[in-house]
Amino acid sequence: TKKITNICCIGAGYVGGPTMAVIAQKCPHIKVTVVDLNEQRIADWNNADLDKLPIYEPGLADVVAEARGRNLFFSTDVDKAIDEAEMIFISVNTPTKTYGVGKGMAADLKYIELCARQIARVSKDDKIIVEKSTLPVRTAEALRTILTSTGNGVKFEILSSPEFLAEGTAVQDLMNPDRFLIGGEQTESGEAAVQALVDIYLNWVPRENIVTTRVWSSELSKLTANAFLAQRVSSINAISALCEKTGADVDEIARAIGKDSRIGAKFLKSSVGFGGSCFQKDILNLVYLCQHFNLPEVADYWAQVVKMNDYQKHRFAKNIIDSLFNTVSGKKIAFLGWAFKKDTNDTRETAALYVADELLQDRAEIHVYDPKVTEEQIFADLEYLQTHRVGQYVEQGEIMSMDEIRSLVTVHNDPYEAMASAHATAILTEWDEFKSYDWQKVYNDMLKPAFVFDGRNIVDKKQLSEIGFEVYNIGKGN
Ligand code: NAD
Ligand code: UDX
Repeated sequence: TKKITNICCIGAGYVGGPTMAVIAQKCPHIKVTVVDLNEQRIADWNNADLDKLPIYEPGLADVVAEARGRNLFFSTDVDKAIDEAEMIFISVNTPTKTYGVGKGMAADLKYIELCARQIARVSKDDKIIVEKSTLPVRTAEALRTILTSTGNGVKFEILSSPEFLAEGTAVQDLMNPDRFLIGGEQTESGEAAVQALVDIYLNWVPRENIVTTRVWSSELSKLTANAFLAQRVSSINAISALCEKTGADVDEIARAIGKDSRIGAKFLKSSVGFGGSCFQKDILNLVYLCQHFNLPEVADYWAQVVKMNDYQKHRFAKNIIDSLFNTVSGKKIAFLGWAFKKDTNDTRETAALYVADELLQDRAEIHVYDPKVTEEQIFADLEYLQTHRVGQYVEQGEIMSMDEIRSLVTVHNDPYEAMASAHATAILTEWDEFKSYDWQKVYNDMLKPAFVFDGRNIVDKKQLSEIGFEVYNIGKGN
């Protein structure tokens, strides 16, 4: 098969940026151009100061430093990159639709469609198109229809190669993937296209870790993987509620069941609820597909995973209000963490936002500290929620003006300032640094009784209780 020497990736986000940086680093013989409509994002990727890259991921700056300007380029000239590339990855966003048919459920494919139309318009020679974004099963069919609609004789092969990286560990996941997945057509040209992509991954991934399937299986594998992973979190979180009623300890249970090799130890950490741009979106998309294909029982089965997650976030917020004598109005509540997990600056669907919203509805004063999330982002998230009130518990809330929100929410650069004179501290993200704070000093500066609500079970409950804190954990039969 033909060796690929020029690829482009449309979408310079959390997937496109790190994925292409690693491909470029591992394949110095391939020119990799990452393009985006967002000029600021591209400027940030090109920033000489590597601390200013648009995405924070451990190890990413080093990879970019090595490859950028050698064979890795970031540009806003989408047409040129498409024209020159033999293989085009599409890694644009596919958020949940916020309007019209499938609102609140289906994936919004308008960005994908725009890419396909642009590729169709610009291409003068045959190309391999790779779906990197997470897409509903059978999207490749829609792509093919659009791509071939110009009738100019250019041939396109469409592959599905969904990305399985997790944020916070993206570089490690890309360097050492459990597997890369490629779906392609069982035709001669389809198989050649699959081989061309296998050859790229082979530069650093052993062949046995590259799984090839048919296109539809590959597309649906991605939704299935995320549904299974999210299901584990909702399952352990469901048990955490029962633990709190019975005195059992959810972390002990996770340890006990995780030893069973059929269950496995990973992804059993009970928490304030899963967040991130993928889990909820992809399950809702799966549910929508099941409804579309008239499988209501299957749809309801997976919908419950999201419901349980909404319940977990709600339970955490409600526990704070209940514990603080049934009102948080005018009380200072410190938030440690805003990102949806540690080691990322991403806040999409973060549990912190939903917990904050419920407390704000009761007019709490929230003081946030997060090591990587900016003040601007936190207010943008709060504003977004006011304009998109969907979800079991959020919907019931009233819309607040930004003036009101700004009067109630303060963002700090110093965690001790965030916690000083607070009635309660809530831990929303599992950032490592929270464990090593001087909790005696925190206690001295907080109002008494001093409450800690640990939504990640990361601080030492015994140590904090000895200092004098009232400590509430997830799933620990307080
Ligand atoms: P993102 O929002 O960070 O990045 C998408 C980028 O695409 C944006 O910068 C946007 O400006 C750009 N874009 C949109 N339309 C464009 C167009 N027509 N031309 C050029 N650029 C365009 O999104 P993301 O988190 O990187 O996710 C991308 C896809 O990958 C989604 O389908 C997501 O489900 C999937 N995914 C995400 C993760 C993750 O951890 N974030 C992991 C696996 C898969
Ligand atoms: C996820 C998938 O893991 C990844 O394969 C896919 O490509 C994109 O979606 P991501 O959302 O980046 O990745 O992070 P992940 O580590 O999966 O965590 C998702 C959420 O679940 C986070 O809020 C995390 O805190 C939470 N979580 C995870 C738990 O609460 N408990 C766990 O045991 C694991």
